[in-house]
Amino acid sequence: MLAIDDPEEQDRLVVALDVPSVAGAHQVLDMLGDAVTFYKVGLELLADPDIGSLLDTLRKRHKKIFLDLKLHDIPRTVAAAVRGWCSRGIHCLTVHVAGGIVEAAVEAAAGRCGVLGVTVLTSHAPRDLMLDDAAGLRAVVLERARMAQQAGCAGVVASGLEVAMLRAALGASLALYVPGIREAGAATDDQRRVVSATKAMVAGADYLIVGRPILGAPDPLQAVAALRRSIVQALAAPSGQGS
Ligand code: C5P
Repeated sequence: MLAIDDPEEQDRLVVALDVPSVAGAHQVLDMLGDAVTFYKVGLELLADPDIGSLLDTLRKRHKKIFLDLKLHDIPRTVAAAVRGWCSRGIHCLTVHVAGGIVEAAVEAAAGRCGVLGVTVLTSHAPRDLMLDDAAGLRAVVLERARMAQQAGCAGVVASGLEVAMLRAALGASLALYVPGIREAGAATDDQRRVVSATKAMVAGADYLIVGRPILGAPDPLQAVAALRRSIVQALAAPSGQGS
């Protein structure tokens, strides 16, 4: 199923620039070239004093920037941070979904960049949230996604295991960004709630966020091509055909 804001196929793959330095990130950009249009910049790179030059390069190369700040602070502080980052030409940024935070972020962004609500980290299992089972965790994800939608977020970040539920409950207007993408049999690393690219897309994901399966692949460009093929095939497949 496609969201209302139907992105180009290529934009559906968000590559996480999870490398230790801006110099390393530039190497990734050069290596992936035109194959990738949407990059996630996260906490690892923000410590590099050259972060501004990376954002400049991304903008000059017409890449969309997903700034993964995962803000979780009092509303005034969140609003101030969002106002500052929104003036840097980014496409979207993330905040954790909690009362007061999402509302403050959306108001501060004032339409200049999208605010995405992180529901429950894909590295979390039920017991990490002091929940008994997967059903309890799914209920928390749904509740947080509803809060994000009501606050006016452009989208939410959730695992592929929850995408079908969110799509059915919340409709097509909320973009669903899905990290924790792993093909069957691949190393899950620190992720706990993982699904394949095909499964996530068929379930209704709008965007896949992928780091190590690309950056750690023997041939990252080939990994990107394979993911893009999965995306195109899943979009063409009748609902429920994911594997
Ligand atoms: O390497 P891997 O594909 O597991 O990376 C996933 C990326 O998505 C990381 O940059 C991580 O910070 C981010 N992310 C996540 N789970 C969330 C939100 C963001 O894994 N709920």
